[in-house]
Amino acid sequence: MRLPGRHVVLGVSGGIAAYKSCILVRRLREAGATVDVVLSRGGARFVGPLTFEALSGRPVATSLWTPGAALSHIRLAQQADLVLVAPATANLIARAALGISDDLLTAILLARTGPVLVAPAMNDRMFDHPTTQANIAALLARGWVTVGPDVGSLAEGDSEAPGRMSEPETILAHAGRCLDRRPPLNGRRVLVTAGPTREALDPVRVLTNRSSGKMGYRLAEAAWRRGADVTLVSGPSSQVDPVGVEVRRVESTADLHREVSALLPSSDVLMMAAAPADFQPVESAPLKRPKPEQETMLALRPTKDILSSTRELRRGDAVMVGFALETGGAIEKARRKLEAKAMDLVVVNDALEPGAGVEVDTNRVVILHRTGEAKTVPLQSKTDIAEAILDEVEVVIGRRASAVPETAG
Ligand SMILES: Cc1cc2nc3c(=O)[nH]c(=O)nc-3n(C[C@H](O)[C@H](O)[C@H](O)COP(=O)(O)O)c2cc1C
Repeated sequence: MRLPGRHVVLGVSGGIAAYKSCILVRRLREAGATVDVVLSRGGARFVGPLTFEALSGRPVATSLWTPGAALSHIRLAQQADLVLVAPATANLIARAALGISDDLLTAILLARTGPVLVAPAMNDRMFDHPTTQANIAALLARGWVTVGPDVGSLAEGDSEAPGRMSEPETILAHAGRCLDRRPPLNGRRVLVTAGPTREALDPVRVLTNRSSGKMGYRLAEAAWRRGADVTLVSGPSSQVDPVGVEVRRVESTADLHREVSALLPSSDVLMMAAAPADFQPVESAPLKRPKPEQETMLALRPTKDILSSTRELRRGDAVMVGFALETGGAIEKARRKLEAKAMDLVVVNDALEPGAGVEVDTNRVVILHRTGEAKTVPLQSKTDIAEAILDEVEVVIGRRASAVPETAG
Protein backbone atom coordinates (compact mmCIF):
# COMPACT_ATOMS: atom_id res chain seq x y z
CA MET A 1 0.00 0.00 0.00
CA ARG A 2 1.42 3.38 -0.93
CA LEU A 3 0.09 6.73 0.24
CA PRO A 4 2.95 9.10 -0.62
CA GLY A 5 2.20 12.74 0.10
CA ARG A 6 -1.20 11.95 1.62
CA HIS A 7 -2.25 13.71 4.79
CA VAL A 8 -4.25 11.59 7.21
CA VAL A 9 -5.88 12.84 10.40
CA LEU A 10 -6.16 9.83 12.70
CA GLY A 11 -8.74 10.24 15.45
CA VAL A 12 -8.31 7.84 18.37
CA SER A 13 -11.20 7.48 20.81
CA GLY A 14 -11.46 5.68 24.13
CA GLY A 15 -11.38 1.95 23.53
CA ILE A 16 -8.90 -0.79 24.36
CA ALA A 17 -8.13 -1.11 20.66
CA ALA A 18 -6.32 2.25 20.86
CA TYR A 19 -3.13 0.20 21.31
CA LYS A 20 -3.59 -1.15 17.77
CA SER A 21 -3.71 2.43 16.47
CA CYS A 22 -0.05 2.78 17.43
CA ILE A 23 0.69 0.10 14.81
CA LEU A 24 -1.69 1.84 12.41
CA VAL A 25 0.33 5.06 12.66
CA ARG A 26 3.44 3.07 11.77
CA ARG A 27 1.76 1.43 8.79
CA LEU A 28 0.42 4.77 7.52
CA ARG A 29 3.86 6.33 7.78
CA GLU A 30 5.54 3.35 6.10
CA ALA A 31 3.06 3.89 3.27
CA GLY A 32 4.34 7.46 2.95
CA ALA A 33 1.46 9.34 4.61
CA THR A 34 1.80 12.29 6.99
CA VAL A 35 -0.24 11.50 10.09
CA ASP A 36 -1.74 13.98 12.56
CA VAL A 37 -3.14 12.15 15.57
CA VAL A 38 -6.08 13.67 17.44
CA LEU A 39 -7.12 12.06 20.72
CA SER A 40 -10.58 12.22 22.25
CA ARG A 41 -10.77 12.58 26.02
CA GLY A 42 -11.33 8.82 26.25
CA GLY A 43 -8.57 8.09 23.74
CA ALA A 44 -6.01 10.02 25.81
CA ARG A 45 -6.80 7.77 28.80
CA PHE A 46 -5.74 4.64 26.89
CA VAL A 47 -2.60 5.80 25.05
CA GLY A 48 -0.83 9.00 26.00
CA PRO A 49 -0.09 11.73 23.44
CA LEU A 50 3.67 11.19 23.84
CA THR A 51 3.44 7.70 22.35
CA PHE A 52 1.58 8.97 19.29
CA GLU A 53 3.87 12.00 19.04
CA ALA A 54 6.91 9.71 18.91
CA LEU A 55 5.27 7.39 16.37
CA SER A 56 3.86 10.10 14.09
CA GLY A 57 6.79 12.50 14.42
CA ARG A 58 4.27 15.33 14.83
CA PRO A 59 2.56 17.13 17.70
CA VAL A 60 -0.58 15.40 18.92
CA ALA A 61 -3.74 17.43 19.47
CA THR A 62 -6.09 16.61 22.33
CA SER A 63 -8.10 19.77 22.97
CA LEU A 64 -10.19 22.42 21.27
CA TRP A 65 -8.93 24.90 23.80
CA THR A 66 -5.24 25.16 22.91
CA PRO A 67 -3.80 28.70 22.78
CA GLY A 68 -2.14 29.29 19.41
CA ALA A 69 -4.21 26.57 17.70
CA ALA A 70 -7.61 28.22 17.99
CA LEU A 71 -8.94 27.09 14.61
CA SER A 72 -7.04 23.83 14.25
CA HIS A 73 -10.33 21.87 13.97
CA ILE A 74 -11.26 23.77 10.80
CA ARG A 75 -7.73 23.60 9.39
CA LEU A 76 -7.36 19.85 9.99
CA ALA A 77 -10.88 19.13 8.68
CA GLN A 78 -10.14 20.96 5.45
CA GLN A 79 -6.50 20.02 4.84
CA ALA A 80 -6.65 16.27 5.43
CA ASP A 81 -6.96 13.96 2.45
CA LEU A 82 -8.60 11.48 4.81
CA VAL A 83 -10.02 11.65 8.32
CA LEU A 84 -9.80 8.20 9.88
CA VAL A 85 -11.24 7.31 13.29
CA ALA A 86 -9.76 4.13 14.80
CA PRO A 87 -10.92 2.95 17.20
CA ALA A 88 -14.33 4.60 17.01
CA THR A 89 -16.17 4.02 20.29
CA ALA A 90 -19.95 3.80 20.59
CA ASN A 91 -19.79 7.18 22.29
CA LEU A 92 -17.73 8.78 19.51
CA ILE A 93 -20.03 7.35 16.84
CA ALA A 94 -23.11 8.65 18.69
CA ARG A 95 -21.63 12.12 19.06
CA ALA A 96 -20.61 12.22 15.40
CA ALA A 97 -24.04 11.02 14.25
CA LEU A 98 -25.77 13.75 16.25
CA GLY A 99 -23.37 16.51 15.25
CA ILE A 100 -22.16 17.05 18.78
CA SER A 101 -18.82 18.83 18.64
CA ASP A 102 -17.68 19.14 22.23
CA ASP A 103 -14.06 18.14 21.64
CA LEU A 104 -11.45 18.60 18.92
CA LEU A 105 -12.10 15.25 17.20
CA THR A 106 -15.88 15.66 16.92
CA ALA A 107 -15.46 19.31 15.85
CA ILE A 108 -13.17 18.12 13.03
CA LEU A 109 -15.75 15.51 12.02
CA LEU A 110 -18.53 18.12 11.94
CA ALA A 111 -16.45 20.51 9.83
CA ARG A 112 -15.35 17.73 7.46
CA THR A 113 -16.60 17.58 3.87
CA GLY A 114 -14.11 15.08 2.38
CA PRO A 115 -13.71 11.31 2.92
CA VAL A 116 -14.10 9.88 6.43
CA LEU A 117 -13.29 6.29 7.38
CA VAL A 118 -14.50 4.90 10.71
CA ALA A 119 -13.30 1.69 12.40
CA PRO A 120 -15.82 0.84 15.15
CA ALA A 121 -14.57 -1.16 18.15
CA MET A 122 -16.67 -2.06 21.14
CA ASN A 123 -18.31 -4.81 23.14
CA ASP A 124 -20.47 -6.91 20.79
CA ARG A 125 -23.72 -6.02 22.62
CA MET A 126 -22.88 -2.30 22.44
CA PHE A 127 -22.33 -2.71 18.72
CA ASP A 128 -25.53 -4.66 18.25
CA HIS A 129 -27.61 -2.10 20.17
CA PRO A 130 -30.25 -0.45 17.95
CA THR A 131 -28.95 3.01 18.90
CA THR A 132 -25.42 2.20 17.74
CA GLN A 133 -26.77 0.58 14.56
CA ALA A 134 -28.92 3.66 13.82
CA ASN A 135 -25.95 5.96 14.46
CA ILE A 136 -23.74 3.96 12.09
CA ALA A 137 -26.51 4.01 9.47
CA ALA A 138 -26.60 7.82 9.79
CA LEU A 139 -22.83 8.03 9.17
CA LEU A 140 -23.06 5.72 6.15
CA ALA A 141 -25.94 7.80 4.75
CA ARG A 142 -23.58 10.79 4.94
CA GLY A 143 -21.16 8.99 2.62
CA TRP A 144 -18.73 7.96 5.34
CA VAL A 145 -17.19 4.51 5.10
CA THR A 146 -16.83 1.94 7.88
CA VAL A 147 -14.35 -0.91 8.19
CA GLY A 148 -15.22 -3.79 10.52
CA PRO A 149 -15.80 -4.51 13.29
CA ASP A 150 -14.54 -8.07 13.04
CA VAL A 151 -15.58 -11.15 14.93
CA GLY A 152 -12.99 -12.40 17.43
CA SER A 153 -11.54 -11.96 20.86
CA LEU A 154 -12.49 -8.81 22.75
CA ALA A 155 -10.91 -7.44 25.93
CA GLU A 156 -13.62 -9.22 27.94
CA GLY A 157 -13.17 -12.60 26.19
CA ASP A 158 -13.95 -14.37 22.94
CA SER A 159 -17.03 -13.42 20.98
CA GLU A 160 -18.78 -14.91 17.98
CA ALA A 161 -20.31 -11.51 17.19
CA PRO A 162 -18.72 -8.41 15.61
CA GLY A 163 -17.06 -5.91 17.94
CA ARG A 164 -13.30 -6.23 17.55
CA MET A 165 -11.50 -3.46 15.65
CA SER A 166 -10.17 -4.54 12.25
CA GLU A 167 -6.45 -5.15 12.03
CA PRO A 168 -4.22 -2.17 11.13
CA GLU A 169 -3.33 -3.72 7.72
CA THR A 170 -7.03 -4.04 6.85
CA ILE A 171 -7.74 -0.46 7.93
CA LEU A 172 -4.75 0.71 5.89
CA ALA A 173 -6.11 -1.02 2.77
CA HIS A 174 -9.52 0.63 3.28
CA ALA A 175 -7.81 4.00 3.75
CA GLY A 176 -6.17 3.47 0.36
CA ARG A 177 -9.55 2.72 -1.22
CA CYS A 178 -11.14 5.82 0.36
CA LEU A 179 -8.38 7.91 -1.18
CA ASP A 180 -8.09 6.22 -4.59
CA ARG A 181 -11.63 5.18 -5.59
CA ARG A 182 -12.62 7.05 -8.68
CA PRO A 183 -14.51 6.74 -11.94
CA PRO A 184 -14.54 4.87 -14.21
CA LEU A 185 -13.68 1.75 -12.13
CA ASN A 186 -15.58 2.85 -9.03
CA GLY A 187 -18.61 0.55 -8.64
CA ARG A 188 -17.68 -1.67 -11.62
CA ARG A 189 -17.59 -5.44 -11.31
CA VAL A 190 -14.11 -6.70 -12.07
CA LEU A 191 -13.20 -10.36 -12.47
CA VAL A 192 -9.51 -11.27 -12.19
CA THR A 193 -8.00 -14.71 -12.63
CA ALA A 194 -4.60 -15.57 -11.19
CA GLY A 195 -2.09 -18.31 -10.65
CA PRO A 196 -1.51 -21.64 -12.29
CA THR A 197 -3.96 -24.52 -12.49
CA ARG A 198 -3.13 -28.14 -11.75
CA GLU A 199 -4.10 -31.21 -13.72
CA ALA A 200 -3.98 -34.44 -11.77
CA LEU A 201 -1.81 -37.30 -13.02
CA ASP A 202 -2.87 -39.36 -10.04
CA PRO A 203 -3.98 -38.51 -6.47
CA VAL A 204 -0.52 -37.15 -5.54
CA ARG A 205 1.03 -35.83 -8.76
CA VAL A 206 0.02 -32.89 -10.94
CA LEU A 207 0.94 -31.12 -14.17
CA THR A 208 1.27 -27.39 -13.56
CA ASN A 209 3.44 -24.36 -14.36
CA ARG A 210 5.58 -21.78 -12.58
CA SER A 211 2.95 -19.02 -12.29
CA SER A 212 2.96 -17.53 -8.77
CA GLY A 213 -0.28 -15.56 -9.07
CA LYS A 214 1.51 -12.32 -8.10
CA MET A 215 0.42 -10.33 -11.17
CA GLY A 216 -3.26 -11.27 -10.76
CA TYR A 217 -3.26 -10.57 -7.02
CA ARG A 218 -1.67 -7.14 -7.55
CA LEU A 219 -4.31 -6.39 -10.21
CA ALA A 220 -7.14 -7.44 -7.90
CA GLU A 221 -5.78 -5.25 -5.09
CA ALA A 222 -5.35 -2.25 -7.35
CA ALA A 223 -8.80 -2.58 -8.95
CA TRP A 224 -10.42 -2.83 -5.50
CA ARG A 225 -8.55 0.25 -4.36
CA ARG A 226 -9.90 2.17 -7.35
CA GLY A 227 -13.39 1.33 -6.09
CA ALA A 228 -14.29 -1.80 -8.08
CA ASP A 229 -16.14 -4.83 -6.66
CA VAL A 230 -13.53 -7.47 -7.36
CA THR A 231 -13.76 -11.25 -7.56
CA LEU A 232 -10.46 -13.10 -7.86
CA VAL A 233 -10.52 -16.66 -9.13
CA SER A 234 -7.19 -18.12 -8.14
CA GLY A 235 -5.43 -21.35 -8.84
CA PRO A 236 -3.05 -22.71 -6.16
CA SER A 237 -0.95 -19.77 -4.96
CA SER A 238 0.83 -18.79 -1.75
CA GLN A 239 -0.34 -15.18 -2.13
CA VAL A 240 -2.46 -13.81 0.72
CA ASP A 241 -6.12 -12.98 -0.01
CA PRO A 242 -6.29 -9.24 -0.79
CA VAL A 243 -8.40 -7.14 1.59
CA GLY A 244 -11.91 -6.48 0.27
CA VAL A 245 -11.64 -8.92 -2.64
CA GLU A 246 -13.83 -12.02 -2.91
CA VAL A 247 -11.43 -14.88 -3.55
CA ARG A 248 -12.54 -18.18 -5.07
CA ARG A 249 -9.86 -20.85 -5.03
CA VAL A 250 -9.78 -23.42 -7.82
CA GLU A 251 -7.57 -26.34 -8.78
CA SER A 252 -7.91 -27.36 -12.41
CA THR A 253 -8.48 -25.53 -15.68
CA ALA A 254 -12.00 -27.02 -15.76
CA ASP A 255 -12.68 -25.45 -12.30
CA LEU A 256 -11.39 -22.10 -13.55
CA HIS A 257 -13.57 -22.39 -16.64
CA ARG A 258 -16.63 -23.12 -14.48
CA GLU A 259 -16.07 -20.07 -12.23
CA VAL A 260 -15.31 -17.70 -15.11
CA SER A 261 -18.44 -18.91 -16.94
CA ALA A 262 -20.56 -18.21 -13.86
CA LEU A 263 -19.11 -14.73 -13.20
CA LEU A 264 -18.52 -13.39 -16.70
CA PRO A 265 -22.14 -12.40 -17.53
CA SER A 266 -22.16 -9.92 -14.62
CA SER A 267 -18.59 -8.62 -15.09
CA ASP A 268 -17.69 -5.21 -16.53
CA VAL A 269 -14.03 -6.14 -16.83
CA LEU A 270 -12.26 -9.49 -17.11
CA MET A 271 -8.52 -9.66 -16.55
CA MET A 272 -7.22 -13.14 -17.38
CA ALA A 273 -3.90 -13.13 -15.56
CA ALA A 274 -4.10 -16.84 -14.71
CA ALA A 275 -1.79 -19.30 -16.43
CA PRO A 276 -4.13 -22.29 -16.87
CA ALA A 277 -2.41 -25.59 -17.57
CA ASP A 278 -2.69 -26.06 -21.33
CA PHE A 279 -2.62 -29.86 -21.23
CA GLN A 280 -4.18 -32.50 -19.06
CA PRO A 281 -3.41 -36.20 -18.89
CA VAL A 282 -5.81 -38.23 -20.97
CA GLU A 283 -6.16 -40.44 -17.94
CA SER A 284 -5.91 -39.43 -14.29
CA ALA A 285 -5.10 -42.59 -12.37
CA PRO A 286 -7.33 -43.25 -9.33
CA LEU A 287 -4.32 -44.63 -7.39
CA LYS A 288 -0.70 -43.47 -7.28
CA ARG A 289 1.10 -44.55 -10.43
CA PRO A 290 4.10 -46.79 -9.77
CA LYS A 291 7.51 -45.31 -10.56
CA PRO A 292 8.29 -46.27 -14.18
CA GLU A 293 11.12 -48.75 -14.69
CA GLN A 294 12.07 -47.18 -18.01
CA GLU A 295 11.23 -44.28 -20.36
CA THR A 296 7.51 -43.85 -20.48
CA MET A 297 5.00 -41.86 -22.57
CA LEU A 298 2.32 -39.71 -21.09
CA ALA A 299 -0.75 -39.11 -23.24
CA LEU A 300 -1.93 -35.49 -22.97
CA ARG A 301 -4.82 -33.59 -24.46
CA PRO A 302 -5.38 -29.82 -24.58
CA THR A 303 -7.52 -28.20 -21.91
CA LYS A 304 -10.38 -25.88 -22.84
CA ASP A 305 -9.31 -22.38 -23.89
CA ILE A 306 -11.14 -20.21 -21.38
CA LEU A 307 -11.24 -16.91 -23.28
CA SER A 308 -12.46 -18.45 -26.53
CA SER A 309 -14.93 -20.89 -25.02
CA THR A 310 -16.64 -18.28 -22.82
CA ARG A 311 -16.92 -15.65 -25.55
CA GLU A 312 -20.70 -15.82 -25.87
CA LEU A 313 -21.05 -15.19 -22.10
CA ARG A 314 -19.36 -11.77 -22.26
CA ARG A 315 -21.45 -8.65 -21.93
CA GLY A 316 -21.30 -6.56 -25.11
CA ASP A 317 -19.64 -3.58 -23.40
CA ALA A 318 -17.32 -5.57 -21.14
CA VAL A 319 -13.58 -4.90 -21.32
CA MET A 320 -11.49 -8.02 -21.93
CA VAL A 321 -7.85 -8.08 -20.91
CA GLY A 322 -5.66 -11.05 -21.77
CA PHE A 323 -2.05 -11.86 -20.94
CA ALA A 324 0.50 -13.34 -23.27
CA LEU A 325 3.59 -14.87 -21.77
CA GLU A 326 5.83 -15.88 -24.62
CA THR A 327 9.41 -16.93 -25.18
CA GLY A 328 10.41 -15.02 -28.31
CA GLY A 329 8.35 -13.20 -30.99
CA ALA A 330 6.06 -12.12 -28.17
CA ILE A 331 4.44 -9.05 -29.77
CA GLU A 332 3.42 -10.77 -33.00
CA LYS A 333 2.05 -13.81 -31.19
CA ALA A 334 0.14 -11.54 -28.80
CA ARG A 335 -1.41 -9.53 -31.62
CA ARG A 336 -2.73 -12.72 -33.18
CA LYS A 337 -4.09 -13.79 -29.79
CA LEU A 338 -5.81 -10.42 -29.34
CA GLU A 339 -7.61 -10.79 -32.68
CA ALA A 340 -8.43 -14.47 -32.33
CA LYS A 341 -9.89 -14.11 -28.84
CA ALA A 342 -11.55 -10.70 -29.42
CA MET A 343 -9.81 -8.91 -26.56
CA ASP A 344 -9.52 -5.18 -25.91
CA LEU A 345 -6.06 -5.30 -24.36
CA VAL A 346 -3.29 -7.83 -24.26
CA VAL A 347 -0.46 -7.54 -21.76
CA VAL A 348 2.63 -9.09 -23.27
CA ASN A 349 5.71 -10.26 -21.47
CA ASP A 350 8.67 -12.35 -22.38
CA ALA A 351 9.48 -15.18 -19.95
CA LEU A 352 13.12 -15.21 -21.03
CA GLU A 353 13.81 -11.60 -20.02
CA PRO A 354 15.57 -11.17 -16.66
CA GLY A 355 13.20 -9.72 -14.04
CA ALA A 356 10.07 -10.36 -16.14
CA GLY A 357 7.39 -13.03 -16.33
CA VAL A 358 6.55 -15.73 -13.81
CA GLU A 359 7.60 -16.12 -10.14
CA VAL A 360 9.46 -12.78 -9.88
CA ASP A 361 8.17 -9.59 -8.20
CA THR A 362 8.92 -7.39 -11.20
CA ASN A 363 7.82 -7.31 -14.79
CA ARG A 364 8.34 -5.45 -18.02
CA VAL A 365 5.34 -5.49 -20.32
CA VAL A 366 3.91 -4.09 -23.51
CA ILE A 367 0.18 -3.35 -23.40
CA LEU A 368 -1.43 -3.75 -26.81
CA HIS A 369 -4.78 -2.11 -27.56
CA ARG A 370 -7.18 -3.51 -30.12
CA THR A 371 -6.86 -0.13 -31.85
CA GLY A 372 -3.20 -0.91 -32.55
CA GLU A 373 -1.68 1.38 -29.91
CA ALA A 374 1.11 -0.17 -27.88
CA LYS A 375 2.29 1.07 -24.50
CA THR A 376 5.65 -0.10 -23.23
CA VAL A 377 5.89 -0.28 -19.44
CA PRO A 378 9.54 -0.51 -18.32
CA LEU A 379 10.82 -2.98 -15.73
CA GLN A 380 9.17 -2.25 -12.38
CA SER A 381 7.28 -3.92 -9.55
CA LYS A 382 4.13 -5.90 -10.35
CA THR A 383 2.29 -3.41 -8.11
CA ASP A 384 3.23 -0.59 -10.50
CA ILE A 385 2.59 -2.74 -13.57
CA ALA A 386 -0.93 -3.41 -12.23
CA GLU A 387 -1.54 0.35 -11.98
CA ALA A 388 -0.31 0.85 -15.56
CA ILE A 389 -2.64 -1.91 -16.83
CA LEU A 390 -5.62 -0.42 -14.98
CA ASP A 391 -4.84 3.01 -16.46
CA GLU A 392 -5.25 1.44 -19.92
CA VAL A 393 -8.46 -0.35 -18.85
CA GLU A 394 -9.79 3.06 -17.78
CA VAL A 395 -8.86 4.47 -21.18
CA VAL A 396 -10.93 1.75 -22.91
CA ILE A 397 -13.91 2.25 -20.56
CA GLY A 398 -13.70 6.02 -21.02
CA ARG A 399 -13.67 5.74 -24.81
CA ARG A 400 -16.60 3.37 -24.75
CA ALA A 401 -18.60 5.66 -22.46
CA SER A 402 -18.03 8.68 -24.68
CA ALA A 403 -18.71 6.48 -27.72
CA VAL A 404 -15.58 7.65 -29.51
CA PRO A 405 -15.11 5.04 -32.22
CA GLU A 406 -11.91 3.06 -31.72
CA THR A 407 -9.98 3.32 -34.94
CA ALA A 408 -6.87 1.50 -35.91
CA GLY A 409 -3.63 3.46 -36.02
C1 LIG B 1 -11.40 -0.32 30.18
C2 LIG B 1 -12.39 0.32 29.27
C3 LIG B 1 -12.50 -0.14 27.99
C4 LIG B 1 -13.42 0.44 27.10
N1 LIG B 1 -13.49 -0.02 25.82
C5 LIG B 1 -14.39 0.51 25.00
C6 LIG B 1 -14.50 0.05 23.67
O1 LIG B 1 -13.74 -0.81 23.21
N2 LIG B 1 -15.43 0.59 22.86
C7 LIG B 1 -16.29 1.56 23.32
O2 LIG B 1 -17.15 1.99 22.55
N3 LIG B 1 -16.19 2.03 24.57
C8 LIG B 1 -15.27 1.53 25.41
N4 LIG B 1 -15.19 2.00 26.69
C9 LIG B 1 -16.06 3.10 27.10
C10 LIG B 1 -15.54 4.43 26.60
O3 LIG B 1 -14.21 4.63 27.02
C11 LIG B 1 -16.43 5.57 27.09
O4 LIG B 1 -17.69 5.49 26.46
C12 LIG B 1 -15.80 6.94 26.85
O5 LIG B 1 -16.70 7.91 27.28
C13 LIG B 1 -15.48 7.15 25.38
O6 LIG B 1 -14.95 8.44 25.27
P1 LIG B 1 -14.58 9.12 23.90
O7 LIG B 1 -15.81 9.25 23.11
O8 LIG B 1 -14.03 10.46 24.32
O9 LIG B 1 -13.55 8.33 23.27
C14 LIG B 1 -14.26 1.48 27.56
C15 LIG B 1 -14.11 1.94 28.87
C16 LIG B 1 -13.20 1.37 29.71
C17 LIG B 1 -13.06 1.92 31.12
